[in-house]
Amino acid sequence: MERTLIMVKPDGVQRGLIGEIMTRFEKKGLQLVGAKFMLVSEELAETHYAEHKGKPFYEKLITFITGGPVFAMIWEADNVIALTRAMIGKTDAVEAAPGTIRSDYAVHTNLNLIHGSDSPDNAEREISLWFTPEEIVSYERTLARWI
Ligand code: PPS
Repeated sequence: MERTLIMVKPDGVQRGLIGEIMTRFEKKGLQLVGAKFMLVSEELAETHYAEHKGKPFYEKLITFITGGPVFAMIWEADNVIALTRAMIGKTDAVEAAPGTIRSDYAVHTNLNLIHGSDSPDNAEREISLWFTPEEIVSYERTLARWI
């Protein structure tokens, strides 16, 4: 079973899209195993986006992500990284396929609503960066076996 770090960014929170985004993942059948509403420190933002340091959008990205609360989640399922990336859509809303979250709700690349880990290595790194082991709640869906 694979896990991924998903984060509704400050624009998604302020537009009231947390519920809509969670609904999409829940209806897909993915399992929520961690969630928290939080402010992102400069240190967390810089560590999270370390691989993009030096790129033209980096400074603005750090300012944006630390500028308001985010909703961080861990979702679990087989192939959850590829599945959620497909549901999120490409970084640029113009290129995002119809029906994806970014195509349906985003207009600008710098306000693209949501982050999803892009590889198993990054998912592991990001999950341990954003969540303590105690904050991750692993469980069997014994009360919903018919799903
Ligand atoms: S790259 O250069 O191809 O690796 O970049 P990409 O994977 O598309 O994006 C890396 C993260 O930076 C965000 N991004 C931007 N933010 C603000 N403005 C601009 N122009 C911009 N371009 C890319 C992008 O959303 C990625 O962050 P996450 O949180 O993973 O979505």
